[in-house]
Amino acid sequence: MSSARNLQKALRPLARQLASPAVQRRTFVAAAGAVRAAAVSRAAAPVAKQQTRGVKTIDFAGHKEDVYERADWPIEKLQDYFKNDTLALIGYGSQGHGQGLNLRDNGINVIIGVRKDGKSWKDAIQDGWVPGKNLFEVDEAISKGSIIMNLLSDAAQSETWPHIKPQITKGKTLYFSHGFSPVFKDLTKVEVPTDVDVILCAPKGSGRTVRSLFKEGRGINSSFAVYQDVTGKAKEKAIAMGVAIGSGYLYETTFEKEVYSDLYGERGCLMGGIHGMFLAQYEVLRERGHSPSEAFNETVEEATQSLYPLIGAYGMDWMFDACSTTARRGAIDWTPKFKDALKPVFNNLYDSVKDGSETKRSLEYNSQPDYREKYEKELEEIRNLEIWRAGKAVRALRPENTK
Ligand SMILES: NC(=O)c1ccc[n+]([C@@H]2O[C@H](COP(=O)([O-])OP(=O)(O)OC[C@H]3O[C@@H](n4cnc5c(N)ncnc54)[C@H](OP(=O)(O)O)[C@@H]3O)[C@@H](O)[C@H]2O)c1
Repeated sequence: MSSARNLQKALRPLARQLASPAVQRRTFVAAAGAVRAAAVSRAAAPVAKQQTRGVKTIDFAGHKEDVYERADWPIEKLQDYFKNDTLALIGYGSQGHGQGLNLRDNGINVIIGVRKDGKSWKDAIQDGWVPGKNLFEVDEAISKGSIIMNLLSDAAQSETWPHIKPQITKGKTLYFSHGFSPVFKDLTKVEVPTDVDVILCAPKGSGRTVRSLFKEGRGINSSFAVYQDVTGKAKEKAIAMGVAIGSGYLYETTFEKEVYSDLYGERGCLMGGIHGMFLAQYEVLRERGHSPSEAFNETVEEATQSLYPLIGAYGMDWMFDACSTTARRGAIDWTPKFKDALKPVFNNLYDSVKDGSETKRSLEYNSQPDYREKYEKELEEIRNLEIWRAGKAVRALRPENTK
């Protein structure tokens, strides 16, 4: 399909939107967040003034849901709420970095707990955390903390739980950013203590985006949930934590639904499914005699550079409408064929998530001592696929890369 001739028309409203106030740009910006996040350095611009928004009950296609917003939690209220708390953030990977720095910038008393002299320890020092002041080894941080934020990798949460569990004593709160460990406790062995609140706030994006959107004064969408409420205040605490780590909007869920939808989504449309679809389309084009550049442009470049941002900004109908009559006729006709072919795969995937197969696979794979080397080998294979080598050459031709 050649959507190039429609692109100018399609991008006109987008350009108008980008010229309008920041609050109206949010949807597009969220869609583009992951791309931009990669470009935002750790020591980037100072924190922008936070936008405030009203509380809302929103009608999502006929289903009314309360959406919690940080407008309910001005910074003074947030700081007052946590004034007697020490947040011990364990693990300083993608989420630890984003959530930790946002908490610190929000004036919350947060300390980091990681393995001494590991990669995370060094990263934390680079981000201004000071050993002995707000950077400790894991056990020491937990002992000082009242809210324990378990942001170790999911495999590490399971591995370290026998050691960590006895330290989560009555009066502390246990916080996760994924339902994985407690929901699949038969596999992870993360059986939470019965006398503490257990809450979750799961940002819907990378920790880099958690940080970059916060610095832009926006805020990532997150879901929050309560697994165990012993104080009667767990829900309020989960919402406050969500705001404190830099969320803009908070959607209520359960630990089960969060982990099922998350594992399902990342294996499906977000990553695995879309990669499979790219590969299938590209391979057929190549087998039918098309050049690598043509196959790549028609499969990935046009999608990511032109059409997907339009879906993100305005929705599928708008994107269809912005394309030629020929393109949209074909797209509408072929949608049900793809849906019918793919739905059984998605159902298999959901079953595999729900029955714990995906968790088992992930724990087994990611607990191997040489998992990083094995994973790097797989990444190298992907990097070396013709489609992605062609993509590298196509991207090199973009104006910003030819200066
Ligand atoms: N990444 C995302 O996009 C994302 C989004 C939403 C929610 N989440 C959830 O957030 C949580 C954290 O994920 P993440 O992606 O930020 O994790 P990550 O980047 O994989 O971070 C791993 C952290 O765990 C530490 N670690 C690994 N093995 C350890 C061990 N045996 N003992 C002690 N520390 C160990 C690492 O320390 P060293 O440097 O010392 O190895 C590092 O600080 C997970 O529950 C995840 O599902 C992630």
